[in-house]
Amino acid sequence: MKINKVTVSAPGKLMLFGEHAVVYGHPCIVTAVDQRMFVTAEVNDSGNFELEAPDVKVSAYKRPLSEIGIGEIPMGAQFVETAIANVVIKYKKSLTGLKVITRSEFSSQFGFGSSSASTVCMVKALSELLGLKLKEKEIFDIAFRTVLDIQGKGSGFDVAAGVYGGTLYFVTPGKTIEKLKIKTLPLIVGYSGVKADTVTLINKVSDTAKDYPRVINGIYDIVGVIVNEAKPYVVKENFEELGRLMNLNQGLLESMGVSINKLSQMIYAACENGAYGAKLSGAGRGDCIIALAPSKNVSTVGKAIEKVGGTVIKVKTNAEGVRVEK
Ligand code: PMV
Repeated sequence: MKINKVTVSAPGKLMLFGEHAVVYGHPCIVTAVDQRMFVTAEVNDSGNFELEAPDVKVSAYKRPLSEIGIGEIPMGAQFVETAIANVVIKYKKSLTGLKVITRSEFSSQFGFGSSSASTVCMVKALSELLGLKLKEKEIFDIAFRTVLDIQGKGSGFDVAAGVYGGTLYFVTPGKTIEKLKIKTLPLIVGYSGVKADTVTLINKVSDTAKDYPRVINGIYDIVGVIVNEAKPYVVKENFEELGRLMNLNQGLLESMGVSINKLSQMIYAACENGAYGAKLSGAGRGDCIIALAPSKNVSTVGKAIEKVGGTVIKVKTNAEGVRVEK
């Protein structure tokens, strides 16, 4: 049966191990979080693409469908609009009119991956509306293509988390996407209040790599080793060892130059108040830190993070991937 309207949702994500090195072919581990992005898409006869995306301050955005993906696109509309253009071109489909509304359970400031989650949702919504029946890998490929069209750089780990959910061992560009069988991963998440820009930070590390290629490539290699050491402990839910490995990974992120005082303060506060370990999560220089602690220390660690100015965000990890909402 052909449907005219659908709502889909995809989870946000947190990088557990391996950021930056993952862009250059090393593995990473990412977990999907239970704060989700929602996209409602409805086919109509208007001949236009219309978008309401209040979370990124887009209101009453409208352009003829014949022009989508062409020329200047406002920031907040880029991912959704380019996703539509890419799906329509790749699968040789046409639309008579489309109205899209996005809504997020998390702030686009957290670094939970709102752009990639909205891209994944848009591709899945079109798969439903156009009867394409896309498989997870097909959704991943076209959503990652879309992110690269806009950002130019990135590993796609965030897109994978949005599509597949769970906790993934990931190698770019989707060479390995392995779901790790776990029940629980009780992360403490501290938000810095500072917005990080992923591409700027990838460029910053690669600038250092131009001057010191052996040093930075050596660091990436060791990050890859840490990810592979961490993988069995994720499955065994050995949080103590994972904490130790987080600290090792954080030391290397410091040497890449992507930490800042605020992140380090939260990380030290967590570790000095009973966490097994902590690290920044994502590109760095802002967004969030993650920590692991024995359950008896979780509240003390949270308080310590808040005392140095962080905000604790309650999330459940290992969340479900993209899905159609009833
Ligand atoms: O800032 P985030 O959460 O988008 O994470 C970026 C992680 C990088 O490894 C720096 C980039 C990437 O796409 O893997």
